[in-house]
Amino acid sequence: MHASKANGANASSAAPSSSGAGSDRPASSWSPNSWRTKPCLQQPPWPDPTALDRALTELRSLPPLVTSWEIEALKSQLADAAKGERFLLHGGDCCEQFDECTSSAIAAKLKILLQMSLVLVHGGRRPVIRVGRFAGQYAKPRSSDTESRGDVTLPSYRGDNVNRAEFTAADRTPDPFRLIDGHARSAMTLNFIRALIDGGFADLHHPENWDLEFVKHSPLAADYQKMVEQLGESLRFMETLAGAQVLGTNRVDFYSSHEGLILDYEEALTRTVPHREGFYDLSTHFPWVGYRTVDPDGAHVEFFRGIANPIGVKLGPDMSPESLRRALEALDPKREPGRLVLICRFGAHQVAKSLPPMIDEVGRLGRTAVWVCDPMHGNTETVVPASGAGKGVPVKTRKFAHILAELEQSFEIHRAKGVPLGGVHIELTGEDVTECTGGARGLGDEELARAYRSRVDPRLNYEQSLEMAMLIARRMRGAT
Ligand code: PEP
Ligand code: CO
Repeated sequence: MHASKANGANASSAAPSSSGAGSDRPASSWSPNSWRTKPCLQQPPWPDPTALDRALTELRSLPPLVTSWEIEALKSQLADAAKGERFLLHGGDCCEQFDECTSSAIAAKLKILLQMSLVLVHGGRRPVIRVGRFAGQYAKPRSSDTESRGDVTLPSYRGDNVNRAEFTAADRTPDPFRLIDGHARSAMTLNFIRALIDGGFADLHHPENWDLEFVKHSPLAADYQKMVEQLGESLRFMETLAGAQVLGTNRVDFYSSHEGLILDYEEALTRTVPHREGFYDLSTHFPWVGYRTVDPDGAHVEFFRGIANPIGVKLGPDMSPESLRRALEALDPKREPGRLVLICRFGAHQVAKSLPPMIDEVGRLGRTAVWVCDPMHGNTETVVPASGAGKGVPVKTRKFAHILAELEQSFEIHRAKGVPLGGVHIELTGEDVTECTGGARGLGDEELARAYRSRVDPRLNYEQSLEMAMLIARRMRGAT
């Protein structure tokens, strides 16, 4: 185990000091590696410090995955979302897998996000910011460091950036060279997405490009088709009026995002760029701090406070107003528009109690942020199917009705408070998996085993995602 990774300083990877783009502390107090002086949760127990240093040295020399101007463009769009002038759609896998870095899986993810965004534009009458939980979502926090099966106890699976899911000692041993594989797969994913978009795949004039195989068989197909036709007509009408193509409709922006969990990795991709001040985490456009690592005195908040990216912060039911205040002060001392995205994950049974005081506290502090509802992480449960292939075997799932209930309550709470709900954060896939129950087809517990593929949290499948977008759009139409 590399002890210094957990909470000590590692002199060999010292980086130059800087003021940190988001910091009001003395100029020398933040650097890309200052997190090493703080308690750091959820880091892999790397067994070989020399191997880790070699992997990180290589990572530091590799090109970044995104650019600072893309990051700044996203930040300015998020500033609009904070005012209710845009809506953030943040979605994708709980945990990407190396073996799903395939053209079909990537295209399916892009398609479902494009389709959902089209539905949301139509319903919400405002531009949608599309951010995928992809091209780097390869590391997971875990509730336990180890997993036991029978007499055997092994390190927990922490995502493909760290180890493999199979339950053998060799597979579960953290391997730092997987960080380099993760960087490469992130680059391949982004490369393919950029090429698809540049080639016109995301052209709003041709949404028929995004039909997934099974859209034809979906109970929602007719509604969706009708909406696409209406949008096409509006687009043609506007272009006839303007006598030209409506700006931006033949191309859409897409941004990437992942939980900034493994700070060795994030630090290695954190760089200065010509003609701009400060440090950018160039591993992704939009990293977020997970709920388990949001301690204001911890290493993650220390790292995030100094990078110039917009950042997400997960808020949950156990967070006190005092730690919220301290985290926000550390992370956004300059109150920069578009800097903070507060991703709330309280659960359908808790949101009415927990969300209003959080909104009040942020208002009392005179802060603005993009408020986002993550209706997934507070609604995870374990069920034991009474029949079907998975009979008697406990399985982690989420009910469509609970996800929707949290979303609907959030819309209502934000409306009552007069503070816009600026977006949604959803775990989903463009494929026909069976991981969450309910939805238009009424997927039951007994069907979960048929196509359960997530190694971590259950995702909405293609149809459930599209249905959710339609229900959100309906709610947005009512709310505006
Ligand atoms: C996640 O987004 O997959 C996750 C682990 O969420 P949270 O930090 O909210 O538990
Ligand atoms: Co998750």
